[in-house]
This record gives sequence, structure tokens and C-alpha cells, in this order.
Amino acid sequence: MKRTHILIIAITLGGFIASCGSNPAPPAENQNATMKEPGDKTGVPVVTDDSKGKGKFTDVKLTSPLDDKMVAAGKTIYDVKCGSCHKLTDEKLVGPGWKGVTDRRKPEWIMNFVTNTDEMIDKDPAAQAMLEQCMVRMPNQHLGDDEARHILEFMRKNDGKN
Ligand code: HEC
Repeated sequence: MKRTHILIIAITLGGFIASCGSNPAPPAENQNATMKEPGDKTGVPVVTDDSKGKGKFTDVKLTSPLDDKMVAAGKTIYDVKCGSCHKLTDEKLVGPGWKGVTDRRKPEWIMNFVTNTDEMIDKDPAAQAMLEQCMVRMPNQHLGDDEARHILEFMRKNDGKN
């Protein structure tokens, strides 16, 4: 009798829990991450994304220099609604750290993500890849359009933009 059927399951999961989108590492290390269940359609987790995402923002005008009032308003929103899950470094908390987010994503993507979170997580490939890594779905934060713009300005400041 073949009693040797000892389960060899769930070993493959280990590798990619740790990164949660905060790790712009080159493929070498990430190749493990492609060894997901058969049928997985995303393949390599998407770390950067050129798209504008899905939502109403298609053309965001950035100001230079940064708008200090928007930065300050964005910081207040961050402190109240986002800081429990996002650090300002590149370190993961519940969600990815924000350092570098304005380089990873287009302004439109960020504003669409924070105002249209559910649809983005359901349909946007980069958002879905993050969900796979973070394993927590970001709850809709009910930000208004202005608040989304303020948070974007705060992120730009955090990324050293001016
Ligand atoms: C309960 C935890 C939680 C809170 C609160 C939260 N987020 Fe998130 N956020 C996440 C998770 C988890 C992800 C990764 C996407 C996913 O899996 O849903 C994420 C992803 C993001 C991303 C994409 C990051 C990247 O690297 O591309 C942005 C931008 C973002 N959140 C903005 C915000 C803003 C703005 C707020 C506050 C208004 C906020 N989040 C509050 C959990 C949270």
C-alpha cells in the first residue's frame, strides 16, 4: 500500500509574503514568485506600472514647486486615515510603504486607486498583484477628489519631489 503520500503542499508560498510590493528587486530573487499555482495569469508580480488605472482621473496636472498647503492637508489625511497601514519608508506595514510610490505609479493611477479602490483592486493588474502579496484588501477610504490630490502631493513631498 502506498502510505507514503505525505502532503507536499504549501511549500511554495513562503517566498513572496515578505515583500508586499515594497521591493523593487530585480527578477533574480523574484523568480520564486512566478512559481504560483498553475493557472495563475499574472505571472511575475507587477512592481511598477505605467498605466493610469481605472477611474475618473485621466489627466492630473502637477505643480512645481510643490503646493505646501496641499502637502499639509495630505499629511493630516495620512495621519488620520492611512498611517495605520502605510509607512513613509519603503517598509511594508499592512500595505506597501509609500517611499517611491510616485515613481512606481503615475499620478492618475494613485488618485484612481485611492478614490476607486474596489474597482482598481478587482481589475487593475498591478493592484491585484499587490493584493496577492499583501493578502489584505485595502478598504475604501472614501476620499474626495481634493483629498486624493492632497494625499498625492504629500506622497510627492515624501519622495523628495519639488
Ligand atoms: C487597513 C489598511 C489600509 C489602510 C487604512 C490604507 N491602506 Fe492603502 N493599501 C493597503 C493595502 C493592503 C494595499 C495593497 C493593495 C491591496 O492589496 O489592497 C494598499 C495599497 C495602497 C496604494 C498603492 C501602493 C503602491 O505601492 O502602489 C496606495 C497609493 C494607497 N494604498 C493609498 C492609501 C491611502 C491614501 C490611504 C489613506 C487615505 C490608505 N491607503 C489607507 C492597506 C491600507
